[in-house]
Amino acid sequence: MPWPRPIVFGNWKMHGLRSEARTLAGAVAAHPGRRTGTLGVFPPFTVLAEVAGQLEGSGITVGGQDCHAELKGAFTGSISAAMLKDAGATAVLVGHSERRHGLGESDGLIRAKAAAGLAAGLVVVLCIGETEAERAAGQTVAVLNGQLTEGWPAGASAERLIVAYEPVWAIGTGRTATIADIVESHDAIGGRLATLAPEGEAMAILYGGSVKAENAAEIMAAPGVAGVLVGGASLDAAGFWAIYQAGGGA
Ligand code: 13P
Repeated sequence: MPWPRPIVFGNWKMHGLRSEARTLAGAVAAHPGRRTGTLGVFPPFTVLAEVAGQLEGSGITVGGQDCHAELKGAFTGSISAAMLKDAGATAVLVGHSERRHGLGESDGLIRAKAAAGLAAGLVVVLCIGETEAERAAGQTVAVLNGQLTEGWPAGASAERLIVAYEPVWAIGTGRTATIADIVESHDAIGGRLATLAPEGEAMAILYGGSVKAENAAEIMAAPGVAGVLVGGASLDAAGFWAIYQAGGGA
């Protein structure tokens, strides 16, 4: 396995002024664990270099929350994957629902961003997930298949690409998918990954959407779940570690 389990990634989203980020990163790194699994944080761009510097040598992955599809150019306000790498990141999230649905990002754009991340030498965390309406219409598996196939970058490997399944309706709502729903979706994703890459079956699939210390153990014990992508609950270092430990991390 390229990624020791459990894999627990914290997406800080648009949270973290410099003093807050410093405190949070310090508290995450200060926890006296052996780090048997994989821990990572995805802070906002403005604090990325500082957090990466702070966590250097801690064994904790630091990643960006998005990148532009080009490695440089006249794209005012955008950040390239090469810039993330230069700031100390080793990973990048692409296709998060808050960008797909909040900002109208297409599968084609997400594929280009994922390719840019790989080209810059970053690990890509490709986020996918169905909306509530799509689930109600029985389209969940078709939507996940489409997002994977259309968003798939050339050259992805189990070492360089992780999939995060985040049902849109479970993000930030306190509503977690049932274990049966998670297993069904992860199963479908695993099946599609096996057709997309020679190493597809070995690829890690994370669950995200209202994960907290109270539900993390059950979610991470489910077959096919390699770990979790945590939003709100990752802003508290003790809670974040409790999630990691609930998944068997020490
Ligand atoms: P919450 O854990 O706040 O629901 O967010 C999940 C998420 O979007 C992680 O990327």
